[in-house]
Amino acid sequence: MQDLSWWKHAVVYQIYPRSFQDSNGDGIGDLNGIRSRLDYLVGLGVDAVWISPIYPSPMADFGYDVADYCGIDPMFGTMEDFDRLLEDVHGRGLRMILDFVPNHTSDQHPWFIESRSSRDNPKRDWYVWRDEPNNWQSHFGGSAWEFDEKTGQYYLHEFLKEQPDLNWRNPAVKEAVFEALRFWLRKGVDGFRVDVMWLMIKDDRFRDNPPNPAYKVGQGSRERLLPIYDADRPEVHGLVAEMRDVLEEFGDRVLIGEIYLPVPRLMQYYGKELRGAHLPFNFQLLQCAWTADELARTIGDYMSALPSGAWPNWVLGNHDKSRIASRIGLKKARSAALLLLSLPGTLTIYYGEELGMQDVLIRPDEAHDPAERRQPGIGMGRDPERTPMPWDNSRQCGFTEGMPWLPIGDANRAVNVDWSRKDPGSMLALYQRLLRLRRAEPVLVVGQLTEMDASDGVLQFARADGKRRFRVIINLGEEARRIPVEAGAIAACTDLDREGETVNEAVRVEAADAMIIEMVGATLA
Ligand code: NOJ
Repeated sequence: MQDLSWWKHAVVYQIYPRSFQDSNGDGIGDLNGIRSRLDYLVGLGVDAVWISPIYPSPMADFGYDVADYCGIDPMFGTMEDFDRLLEDVHGRGLRMILDFVPNHTSDQHPWFIESRSSRDNPKRDWYVWRDEPNNWQSHFGGSAWEFDEKTGQYYLHEFLKEQPDLNWRNPAVKEAVFEALRFWLRKGVDGFRVDVMWLMIKDDRFRDNPPNPAYKVGQGSRERLLPIYDADRPEVHGLVAEMRDVLEEFGDRVLIGEIYLPVPRLMQYYGKELRGAHLPFNFQLLQCAWTADELARTIGDYMSALPSGAWPNWVLGNHDKSRIASRIGLKKARSAALLLLSLPGTLTIYYGEELGMQDVLIRPDEAHDPAERRQPGIGMGRDPERTPMPWDNSRQCGFTEGMPWLPIGDANRAVNVDWSRKDPGSMLALYQRLLRLRRAEPVLVVGQLTEMDASDGVLQFARADGKRRFRVIINLGEEARRIPVEAGAIAACTDLDREGETVNEAVRVEAADAMIIEMVGATLA
């Protein structure tokens, strides 16, 4: 493991900064808040934090509308706060990954203010302007084009009209954005999670997207069309490779791409000769049905599609998707944790997953998220999975002294960190044990994944290298099962009481339980 880049054996912890810890009583999390909770992260056993955007922003899309790539929004603190946070992160042996949003800026970014000021402004071509719109649709619903009265043209916005898309065909844009990356890299940031990497460059002829034959009534307006011409264009791979080169000027930093594409297309983002993203985010476990068959297929397809030498990665949740405990239920979420922590490669945990946090119901008239407000009632809203982290039993759960920007929710209040720490059977305790095991047993990170099986509603596989061998068993069915196994001992189990139990010939696995068994004396041929 020592020979591996740090990010290859890392477990990354995603922090949605508005909701992690408030330090100044405004009800919104901030950098000093994060800094005050670093010991928690160390105790949990993660290796790196990825912080969703903290740059100056009008917050039309909660920071994904950046008005200055090289600053800190006062809501989150100051640049001094950031520097102190980075120092403390590193001081604890952790790494820091920043969210970076190169596809679009805020409409309040000085570049866009200049660009829209006149047709002959030198920055006009930094954004995408056209005399006529085509049929492209915004991810948040409605046309992706906005008419600008003053200059009589339309500009492209794949998201809100407050988020104009940059023109990545313009070399000046590229240089300016790469300089912003260098700004943070010079400070010592360990890598970036790049927002909507697959959207960064669009068809140069602006062809209309064709209709989507699979569109269902009730879906968002973007789903009416197939995103052939405004996403995943061949030219994007050159850009990603150049971005990677920028990171490599600074040594061992990591480039993670947010990419929602089918597996074969996703794999392209590792790049020619693996010169693309180190980790094109693998969202398969966010999207697949939670049955043994589906999981076996999903994991198997992903692993076999990996280009030679490409490093796998896995994630169960993020700030855009319903939380895992709400998607599949709390009980299964425990076995999902065990599954995640026994898969090969780099893992990402979304804050609160380790407590079993669930989505919080947000009344439509209380929605903050523009995705919900623009297309209400069709399930686009992301507030439910962005609610405050519950730390203790106090009124606002130790998250803030003021009024939290989103409600905490009773179910999440009940699993607060203090309580979870006291209960050895809590989800938190399970995560801690699994993280400890993973750290102690490199074979879980780098070993082969073999012997996948999904019979009788039970997902099974082995993780092995020449010396060590573990069997992972996850009962996703409704009944207890007796599973034949070689001799070994239960190294981790969703049922704490069974850890340490020795097994021989067969093991009983209760419905919804999962375990990792260390095989004794077994070696791979
Ligand atoms: C993806 C981010 O994860 C999401 O939260 C955001 O709204 C869009 N990109 C636009 O930046």
